[in-house]
Amino acid sequence: MPLTRLVYFSTSKRPTDGSVAVQLKQILASSIKNNVHFAVTGGLVFNRNYFLQVLEGGRSNVTKVFSTISVDLRHDQIELVEVKDVRERLFAAWSMGFASTPELIKELWAKMDIQGEFNPKLLTGDQIVKLIFELVKKEEGFASSRKFSIA
Ligand SMILES: Cc1cc2nc3c(=O)[nH]c(=O)nc-3n(C[C@H](O)[C@H](O)[C@H](O)COP(=O)(O)O)c2cc1C
Repeated sequence: MPLTRLVYFSTSKRPTDGSVAVQLKQILASSIKNNVHFAVTGGLVFNRNYFLQVLEGGRSNVTKVFSTISVDLRHDQIELVEVKDVRERLFAAWSMGFASTPELIKELWAKMDIQGEFNPKLLTGDQIVKLIFELVKKEEGFASSRKFSIA
């Protein structure tokens, strides 16, 4: 079965009820439950205005999960960055690794040598995958696909 990696980013919408932290917890809880079921792995980065996400797994399962995500009202302006066959999973350690520490994002963004505020529109697919991977690895460590690292 072909292994596929899908990458997108989107603009997060302010929750109409409850806090951003509660909303993120709910998203992660659903993600981990469903992604385990669909054997999907990946990483999700939240940075104030943006979500950046990688989904990897069997092509039909990645399509199913992304179809659900794409109509989720908690974000909009979804921009598909890439969908491609890959030989192996980069995010094998995480059902949905998560990172949202502003300082870490700032640090990696500064290293990328791009002018202005953090903006995923300025990045290539490879740069986005690398950014998500580095952030998730730093914030989660390799062990935990189930740990919630948001306060
Ligand atoms: C930015 C973002 C990323 C999401 N990522 C996933 C994901 O990786 N897997 C998933 O099943 N749901 C994800 N969701 C949630 C789905 O859109 C949907 O709410 C959820 O799958 C519903 O599942 P449930 O009813 O079983 O909780 C995400 C939502 C948002 C806004």
